[in-house]
This record gives sequence, C-alpha cells and structure tokens, in this order.
Amino acid sequence: MHVGRISHPDNTPHHRQAVAPSAVAPGEQIFTADGMKDVPVPRELRREEIKDVVDEFRKAAAAAIEAGADGVEVHGANGYLIHQFLGENSNVRTDEYGGSVENRARFAIEVTKAVVDEIGADKVGFRISPGAPLGGVKEGVHIDQVYEYLVSELDKLGLAYLHIMHLGDESILRKIRSVWSNPFLVNRAGRQIEDISNDIDNNIADMAPIGAWALANPDIVECLKKDAPLNEPDRTTFYGGDEKGYIDYPFLDK
Ligand SMILES: Cc1cc2nc3c(=O)[nH]c(=O)nc-3n(C[C@H](O)[C@H](O)[C@H](O)COP(=O)(O)O)c2cc1C
Repeated sequence: MHVGRISHPDNTPHHRQAVAPSAVAPGEQIFTADGMKDVPVPRELRREEIKDVVDEFRKAAAAAIEAGADGVEVHGANGYLIHQFLGENSNVRTDEYGGSVENRARFAIEVTKAVVDEIGADKVGFRISPGAPLGGVKEGVHIDQVYEYLVSELDKLGLAYLHIMHLGDESILRKIRSVWSNPFLVNRAGRQIEDISNDIDNNIADMAPIGAWALANPDIVECLKKDAPLNEPDRTTFYGGDEKGYIDYPFLDK
C-alpha cells in the first residue's frame, strides 16, 4: 500500500510533504505524536514520477515474498493512494491519469500489472471500497462505471481474489461480481458475528473476511467452530498507537 495524501510531515523521518494524484487536501485529520492534526495539502505527483511509484509497489511485492509471505493484497481501498486516483474529487489531473473513468483507473491497473509481473497472479489480491467515504475520496456519480471498468480490467489479469470493504447496499456488489471470475471476498464493515455468513448464503460472496472480531478473538476460527462466546472488540483501543487492544485479548481456554 501507499498512503498518498493520508500522511503528515510530522509522521515522516525528514518532515516531508506527501504526494498524491493532485494537490487537494482530504479535509480530514490524522494521528501524530502531538495528537490529531489536519492533513495538509499534498504535492501533485509529476507524470514521470508515477512510474517510479508503480515500481515501488513492484519492489514491495518482491520484498514481501522474499520475507516469506504467501502473497500480497494491493490496497485500492479506504482513501489511500490508489483510491485517490480513482476519486473524482481527489484526482483533478488533466493528463492520462485523470478525467475519464479509464484514466482514473489507469494507475490501479498499472500497479497491479507490475505486481503480477513480479510475483505471479496467483499470489495477488486486490482490495476496493466502492463509495466508502474514507480519506475524503468520492468517486462521483458514475461510481458503478468506475468499479465495473476497473474490476473487468483486473479480471483479465487472473488475480487470486478481489476483496471489498463494503458499507452500502447489495446492488454494486452484484454488479461487480458479474464482471469478476475468481474468488470474491466481501467484508461488510461493522456486521454482527451472527450475520457473518449471510453474503455467502445469499450467493453474493465466496468468503467473508473478518476484521474487528478477529482482532478481539485470537482464536476466532476455533470459537466459531465451537459456537463459543466471543470477546467483544473494545473500540476505545482501536488505532491507539500501542499494543493495547492488539495482542492482549484472551484466548478461548483462558
Ligand atoms: C484497529 C483496526 C485497524 C484497521 N486498519 C486498517 C488498515 O490499515 N487498512 C485498511 O484498509 N483497513 C483497516 N481496517 C479496516 C478493516 O480491514 C475492516 O475493513 C473493517 O474493520 C470492517 O470489517 P469488520 O467489521 O469485520 O471489522 C482496520 C480496522 C480496525 C478495527
């Protein structure tokens, strides 16, 4: 992943300005060592710099495999760099990376092709979050077109899976699934644990990734198999900056 504009000079070793598709601030705040601060205006990536960033994704994928990972997930969701390129309000470029749906999807596709080329399509997944108002990104009124185009292009690459972080209704999920051949993972944000298999039962998804419940239950698979009581995720510890709420939830046998 690359955060793009969701950064702050205080969070970088050399107090650097972030880069993004366009010099547009997200209108959000970010954690720093001195508390929450406004995210500043990023610097627009020069056209010739974009291929260097694509190459950084390629190198990151190679490093992950070298370090022993089974594969990588290209992060095209949640308001970070790839999503910023897809957004209509975060990408106001006038070159071949901005404007039309095809142009705004170009960076996502180039990154994925580079990663596939480096480590093989069977080791690569892709994450999207259509319409999720995260990081101030808005894809505009043609949101269905943006994702139908992007996903049908990604489909040609034969990736291991597509992963959606989803907040909305089912219509876009069904549209996306109709242009996607391989495993389809739907992470419905904030869903209750008893609803975890609904999308699989309703033939919308092949898998249902679990976030917060897995954080709170280090042996979630065992718990679900045994229908055991679960630890409730403690939201006050999310994004806290230390180990609290990340490694201290009790196991089932405790
Ligand atoms: C503590 C915490 C940290 C998270 N960090 C990230 C992140 O860095 N990048 C990301 O795309 N999603 C992140 N998420 C979102 C999860 O991947 C997931 O989409 C979200 O929690 C909704 O699924 P859930 O209801 O099963 O938790 C995070 C969620 C939590 C609770």
